[in-house]
Amino acid sequence: MSEEEFRGVLARLAGGVVLVSAHDPDDGPAGAPAGMTATAFLSVSLDPPLVLVSVRTGSRMDEVLTEQPLWAVSLLSQEQRVTAGRFAMRGRLSDRLLFREVPHVLGEHTGAPLLKDALAGLECRTESRVPAGDHTLVVGRVLGTHLGGMAGAPLLYYQGAYRHLA
Ligand SMILES: Cc1cc2nc3c(=O)[nH]c(=O)nc-3n(C[C@H](O)[C@H](O)[C@H](O)COP(=O)(O)O)c2cc1C
Repeated sequence: MSEEEFRGVLARLAGGVVLVSAHDPDDGPAGAPAGMTATAFLSVSLDPPLVLVSVRTGSRMDEVLTEQPLWAVSLLSQEQRVTAGRFAMRGRLSDRLLFREVPHVLGEHTGAPLLKDALAGLECRTESRVPAGDHTLVVGRVLGTHLGGMAGAPLLYYQGAYRHLA
């Protein structure tokens, strides 16, 4: 199997888009928020409540989560496509500046930014880390949930593009 074939198959798996975030204690004197767009996110266990995100080794978020066990996940709505794009850019200058443009609150359990316009959010503490090829599976215990009013429409990623439900 070639890498192209592998990618081609997985491109046909529709995924919900999330923003993984954390307070990076090493960014500046007071630390700063960090965020990364991800689709490799899933629920793992109900009792205890566990979720998992797969983070590319060497990415900024990988470095942050190595030091910071507290993090959050915002489930993005279809209105947050631009935000998803911004937090997916490699070598971007500053997440601190990006977060200034996006309404958010700092989670009470984690200090991690949760996007106000997201469909829902979770706050987590890392329970275990599993190296897996060029990624690390970060399993988090859910410390708190954030559920807005009526759920809006989710942002999806499919065949290399952001999509909406029909
Ligand atoms: C739709 C989409 C989904 C992504 N999913 C993941 C993911 O699950 N895990 C991951 O590590 N990177 C994922 N990425 C890539 C990261 O968003 C991107 O590499 C990172 O923000 C760039 O920062 P860096 O300079 O620290 O690598 C995804 C990108 C996009 C556009």
